[in-house]
Formats: sequence, C-alpha cells, structure tokens
Amino acid sequence: MYDNWEDLKNACYDCKKCGLCETRTNLVFGVGNPQAEVMFIGEGPGEQEDLKGEPFVGRGGQLLDKMLDVVDLDRNKNIYIANMVKCRPPQNRDPKPEEQEQCIGWLKNQVKLIHPKIIVCLGRISAMKVIKPDIKITREHGIFFDKKGTLTMATLHPAALLRNPTQKPGAMEDYFKLRDKIKEICKHTY
Ligand code: URA
Repeated sequence: MYDNWEDLKNACYDCKKCGLCETRTNLVFGVGNPQAEVMFIGEGPGEQEDLKGEPFVGRGGQLLDKMLDVVDLDRNKNIYIANMVKCRPPQNRDPKPEEQEQCIGWLKNQVKLIHPKIIVCLGRISAMKVIKPDIKITREHGIFFDKKGTLTMATLHPAALLRNPTQKPGAMEDYFKLRDKIKEICKHTY
C-alpha cells in the first residue's frame, strides 16, 4: 500500500502485473479530484479510454457526464472516477479473474487514500466486487449499502443505458438519490 497519491500513481503507471500491460496503449488510472467525497467505479477501459488514458470518454462517458451534470457533479471538480481494471482487455473481452485479482490492489489503494463517503458502482461487475457478489442490479440499483462506514450504491452502467434507453429515467432516479445523500452527509462536494 502506498500512502501518497503521486507514489501510487507512478507505481501503477509502471504496472506489469498481468498480460494486459502488453496490449495497452495507455494505462487508465482514473480522473477527478482525489479529495472528493464521492467516488465512481466502473469496470475497465474500452477503446477510447485506452487511447486517451482517461476513464469514460466514449459515448457511454458522454452520457455519464450529462447525468452527473444534472446533479451538479463534475469529473473535474467534485468526484473521482476509477475502474476496477486499469488496462483495456483486447477486443473489450471481460477481464479474466486473474487479471482482476492482480489489478484490484490498485483500486483498493485508491479507495484507501481518497477515503470517500460514498461509492457509486457503475454496472454489475463493479457492484458484485464492491457491494456484494450476488447483487441484482435491476432490483437493487439506487439502494445504499453500508460497507464499513462507506455508503455504496450501484447504478446501471452507461453502456447498458445506451443499449436500452428505456432504463434511463430509472437510472436518473439513482443520481437524484445520490444528490440527496450528498446533501445529507457530505461537506465539501457543493
Ligand atoms: N466502461 C467502463 O466501465 N469504464 C470505462 O472507463 C469505460 C467504459
């Protein structure tokens, strides 16, 4: 574990713990304010993210930014966004269990240093890891679970909303619940 953000970032950028380092263009460490009280966790980089070295910069990312904007959240100001896996799996296949296992320490170290009050999981894969392995995201999105003093909540992945736009209003409700919770327990987010 690193206790300094810059040391953690530098070590992560050098990571060769799994084979994904051989095919990545850029490692995607994360984006946002490491002092934020709210953290978002996605699955892993896609093509655009690999090219730019930043999470959620494709079409899904644009939708995410719009939904965040409605509730006054901004990746350049008051939140931090990271992924469970820092390097793009070729052809966007699912990361293998051993790749996830090798990578998760970086995320755990990020969470430890950011020490967010609220974690929002984007999609089932991150919700299964962060909240509980048997989470049913269609039924349990928008619900806050207390994980050792950190409130965690899952919402639908932006890519899923692009595939199925009828789910957008339901997902937006999650962001309104998030806004209410921020008002209740956070100090500096607004
Ligand atoms: N999907 C994710 O889960 N993360 C990204 O960074 C991009 C797409």
